[in-house]
Amino acid sequence: MKKPLIIANWKLNGNKYFVNIFLEKLCYKLNKNKIYNISIAPSLIHLNEAILKTKKSCIKICAQNIDINSFGAFTGDVSATMLKNIGVKYVLIGHSERRIYHKENNKDILKKFIEVKKNNLIPILCIGETLKEKKKKQTKKICLNQINLIINNLGIKAFKNSIIAYEPIWAIGKKIPIKIQKIQKIHNFIRSNIKLYDKKISKKIIIQYGGSVNHKNAEQILKQPDIDGILIGNNSLNFNNFIKIIKIIKNIKK
Ligand code: PGA
Repeated sequence: MKKPLIIANWKLNGNKYFVNIFLEKLCYKLNKNKIYNISIAPSLIHLNEAILKTKKSCIKICAQNIDINSFGAFTGDVSATMLKNIGVKYVLIGHSERRIYHKENNKDILKKFIEVKKNNLIPILCIGETLKEKKKKQTKKICLNQINLIINNLGIKAFKNSIIAYEPIWAIGKKIPIKIQKIQKIHNFIRSNIKLYDKKISKKIIIQYGGSVNHKNAEQILKQPDIDGILIGNNSLNFNNFIKIIKIIKNIKK
């Protein structure tokens, strides 16, 4: 059985005090318990601190972004090599907030994916449609284009030891009710498409869901056969709610 992967995406939130207290309490609660597969994605400036704080626990640290370059004269940027060097495990790629606010395009996303793989980090490729695309019934087409960007350029093997996060843009940061059956169908669609290329990879790949996940809907979401984890933004900043979500994992039997 795959352990559900729970990732807290803290986005542009937190400070040194918040990161230290949150992670100290989390490590204490988890107490080296190996049944959990948990990752925290703090802001770039708190990555090192988070790594040091969680060293003896099962918690792995995730970066929210990287640069497209490995090194050189790129003022203000951070490379996958640098993240690997300090002990990061996962990197979010193509989050909709980066696609929208930083105008990241397919070319950037592909380059970042390559950088992450080259450095033996695990990419979390974020995909998903806008509200307009949803209304036009283009969800499947959009998701397919976004995963095909990787398959067509790097081959299906690039998805070995990689993660896909289905994050419909209309559901992010909204606290809206989610139609879980519909989300499951999209996850199944994504997995079936990967299966067309490689059965083993389609079985093993983690397909996470993100967008308005909270301690009330997490259990139902995680019970779906094709949802292998959740990426939580807003609700993961509340320690008590995050702990409630983690405890739910014990009830998930797939
Ligand atoms: P949300 O964000 O949980 O606040 O909707 C999810 C995400 O952007 O990863």
